[in-house]
Amino acid sequence: MSVVVLISGRGSNMQALLDAGLPVVSVIGNRADAAGLEIAARRGVVTKAIEHRDYPTLEAFDAALAAEIDRHSPTLVALAGFMRILTPAFVAHYAGRLLNIHPSLLPAFPGLDTHRRALAAGVKVHGCSVHFVTEQLDHGPIIVQAAVPVRPGETPDTLAARVLRQEHVVYPRAVRWFLDDKLVIRSGVVSVKGNDAQLVYSDRD
Ligand code: GRF
Repeated sequence: MSVVVLISGRGSNMQALLDAGLPVVSVIGNRADAAGLEIAARRGVVTKAIEHRDYPTLEAFDAALAAEIDRHSPTLVALAGFMRILTPAFVAHYAGRLLNIHPSLLPAFPGLDTHRRALAAGVKVHGCSVHFVTEQLDHGPIIVQAAVPVRPGETPDTLAARVLRQEHVVYPRAVRWFLDDKLVIRSGVVSVKGNDAQLVYSDRD
């Protein structure tokens, strides 16, 4: 059992996976200055930067990325704030073993800037989703969601911080389920053997 984590930045979700004791064998970043790479290295995890800017096409970058990932023959590849669009060939190569965490209650607010857009839409509940990755950006079977109520006076930053705390709860949970072979997908809907809760509702902090 092993997990390769892909990051682009600070890597707090990656750290949550490490803190949960999950078998992360490597952390790969598409920028050498991704803060999370240094954090992972300090924790004894093999790290690698594959700079997307060094490759002329998306395909060339994805091929280099896949070659590095496959050196580890991981059970699972976890995107954790990895800010690159992946090619269909890459997604197909890891079909069924590629997860992402997205800071909204999908299918609402795919893409960037989710917290600001959620506030602008006036939603009363926001949150995050862990899902299997498919070719369509921020789509794919949803494994677990955490819901966070939107409070009066909320700003994108306050909302982001509260959602992020829940991301750190649900991502390790989803990865654990995957590694324990507890996830079942039927007609695009994921259930968990043993009926563990696929919804976290947090109104405490
Ligand atoms: C998280 O909000 C994640 O959901 C999104 O990008 C952010 C990454 O944060 N995809 P971090 O690098 O894990 O701290």
